[in-house]
Amino acid sequence: MKVLVTGGLGFIGTKLVSELEGRGHETWACDLFNSHRDHYRRCDVREFRQLEKLVGGHKFDLVYHAAAEYGRWNGEDYYENLWMTNVVGTKNLLRLQEAYKFKTVLFSSAEVYGDYPETMRENVMDEVPIKQMNDYAMTKWVNEMQVLNSTSMFDTETVRIRLFNVYGPGEHYTPYRGVVPTFIYKALHDLPYTVYRGHKRTFEYVNDVCTTLANLPEYFKPRDLRHRCETSLEEGIRRTVIWMEEASPARKKEALTIVE
Ligand SMILES: NC(=O)c1ccc[n+]([C@@H]2O[C@H](COP(=O)([O-])OP(=O)(O)OC[C@H]3O[C@@H](n4cnc5c(N)ncnc54)[C@H](O)[C@@H]3O)[C@@H](O)[C@H]2O)c1
Repeated sequence: MKVLVTGGLGFIGTKLVSELEGRGHETWACDLFNSHRDHYRRCDVREFRQLEKLVGGHKFDLVYHAAAEYGRWNGEDYYENLWMTNVVGTKNLLRLQEAYKFKTVLFSSAEVYGDYPETMRENVMDEVPIKQMNDYAMTKWVNEMQVLNSTSMFDTETVRIRLFNVYGPGEHYTPYRGVVPTFIYKALHDLPYTVYRGHKRTFEYVNDVCTTLANLPEYFKPRDLRHRCETSLEEGIRRTVIWMEEASPARKKEALTIVE
């Protein structure tokens, strides 16, 4: 199949492109920057003309829409970019999907679940109004509604994926990334970090996520994506530490603040 990954230079996009290429798909990527890669185009999804030039010039069977401003604090600090990229960018893609009829995989987020106090199930989102806790979460929920409306009005086909805390090699630390790169980077660089006790999180190793995502060209079904968590958290963290030691070498130190 001929596929496009928007945000293809990002943490998940990079791994997904390799996985899809490995399975023999003609895989194109786009992102904000220029790149030496084959089958790559610079394209800002906020700009309809740029996206149309890319999508109109190829007959993609499937588009993975991973391009986004990621993360809640990034979204608060750079809210203009967040709303333009996540919401207008997705609308641009949906308009093109309605015209060209490719299938789409929308990268949503577990952030859409808000702070629901009971056990979260997929149908809860259809039955109970959930309050998203930050602009990033709101944009991801808006994206899902954009998709649902487009599907019902134009008969488009999209699978929405709500990713949870994807971690692993390739995720460079910035102050806006998740807890795993933050803890590892700070421990390696002798920097203090804060641990909030009493919180639970679900983590997914990036290769496991990309294996499942790469099944979608052949297995384009909502609900049961046959996702397998093959990599234990211990093993995934071990590999991530090894990668980060090489990617940003530094001394190790125990510098830890516990907040009860
Ligand atoms: N990493 C996670 O744990 C996680 C969890 C839930 C959802 N997601 C979603 O998965 C997707 C990929 O996340 P990631 O962790 O790889 O983040 P990332 O920031 O590494 O990748 C996003 C990519 O999108 C690109 N991008 C940003 N604005 C763009 C624009 N206007 N036009 C084109 N490209 C643009 C960035 O340059 C970047 O390469 C995002 O949609 C994110 O919201 C990620």
